[in-house]
Amino acid sequence: MSPKGPPCQFSQEASVCTGVSAQNRKEGRTPAPFLPNSPPMAHLSAPAAAAGHRVSASRRPSLALKKIAPSLRGAAAPAGLLSLRVAVAKAATSSNGAAPAGTIVNPVDVPLLSCSEVAERLDAFQASGARNQTYMAMYSSIFGGITIDPSAMVIPIDDHMVHRGHGVFDTAAIMDGHLYELEQHLDRFLKSAHMAKIPLPFDRSTMRSVLIQTVCASKCTQGSLRYWLSVGPGDFQLSSSGCTNSALYAIVIDSPSLPVPSGCKVITSSIPVKSPQFAVMKNVNYLPNALTKVEGEENGGFTGIWLDDEGFVAEGSNMNVGFVTRNKELLMPRFDKILSGCTAKRVLALAEQLVENGGLSGISSRNVSVQEGKAADEMMLIGSGILVKPVVQWDDQMIGSGKEGPIAQTLFNLILEDMRSGPPSVRTPVPY
Ligand SMILES: Cc1ncc(COP(=O)(O)O)c(C=O)c1O
Repeated sequence: MSPKGPPCQFSQEASVCTGVSAQNRKEGRTPAPFLPNSPPMAHLSAPAAAAGHRVSASRRPSLALKKIAPSLRGAAAPAGLLSLRVAVAKAATSSNGAAPAGTIVNPVDVPLLSCSEVAERLDAFQASGARNQTYMAMYSSIFGGITIDPSAMVIPIDDHMVHRGHGVFDTAAIMDGHLYELEQHLDRFLKSAHMAKIPLPFDRSTMRSVLIQTVCASKCTQGSLRYWLSVGPGDFQLSSSGCTNSALYAIVIDSPSLPVPSGCKVITSSIPVKSPQFAVMKNVNYLPNALTKVEGEENGGFTGIWLDDEGFVAEGSNMNVGFVTRNKELLMPRFDKILSGCTAKRVLALAEQLVENGGLSGISSRNVSVQEGKAADEMMLIGSGILVKPVVQWDDQMIGSGKEGPIAQTLFNLILEDMRSGPPSVRTPVPY
């Protein structure tokens, strides 16, 4: 964990972390609270078995690690650190949890690590290339500031969001230095928090400011912002009564490439759909969503589509579904049993211009049967990650001509244009 950000000094009186907050005060912004007695940390988005859990050498890792150093002769980094990095890299690539041959993994000899050794191993894990995405900045109300060091982007393992799933989350795309639909996503975030009985650690405007400052610190101009509200750390009980403070976390992920509206296949999911109470709230219990996505991929598709308890079309794993009917109506399932997608709602608004110019005969939200959906001229998936993605096959049924439809392409273009040059109500500038 190399000290890349501003030094963080703690004010005893106010229990406030003044590294990033000193800047805030200078600019008259509300400082984020610092909660003392930091509990043990878990990686925000690392796999459950992070490298440090599997890699073991001895109580003196640098000596044992040198065993694998000869294969690295000529490399520039210090041998101990480099060999640790390679060991971590190898351990991290083992998919079945077994010790990969030729590494130092030894489950019966787990080292006891100091805080700085843990930090070194977190650095090594980061350097091992085990992550597929680039994390530009993270905010945590636990440490009351922003870090741009990916190794330090951790959350407490006793956070109830980690071990009980008691948390909610949301996102916002970053496009050309603007946050897209931040207000709309924040509205849903706060609604989800209310439904999940998570008290807010700060008021809305402070949270909004924290999120914008995090993007600002990241210097990311294209990517995504993800944020979580957790009922907080405190213990491993089920009840949140022992959680003294709820927690806000946010992360900025760099993503220079734009989604491509290429046609895809979907399948009807065999994973039980969430009950409406949980489907309408964006909580962190995404196992059904993950399994729906995996099932879709295992069947050669992009994702799975859920049907609701009455057999009508519900939504995709993490996206809404839209259709263009035979009589050129844009049709979407109502949002009463599914997540109210910010992108889908924006698509419905932008599509009005297609009604005006005759491209669509109308727009409606109502129950959609599987039969009607499969007989549609066009089908599309809609969400902030993919924007608008045409579906050309659903199970064994070709949709329309079996090729990407013109309305899906037009809606994709409209959303992209909105992200780049839409009104201030959907574009929040980031003051880098
Ligand atoms: C279950 C589910 N439905 C729909 C969506 C689409 O919502 P949005 O357009 O706000 O990204 C998401 C987004 O993550 C989701 O998780």
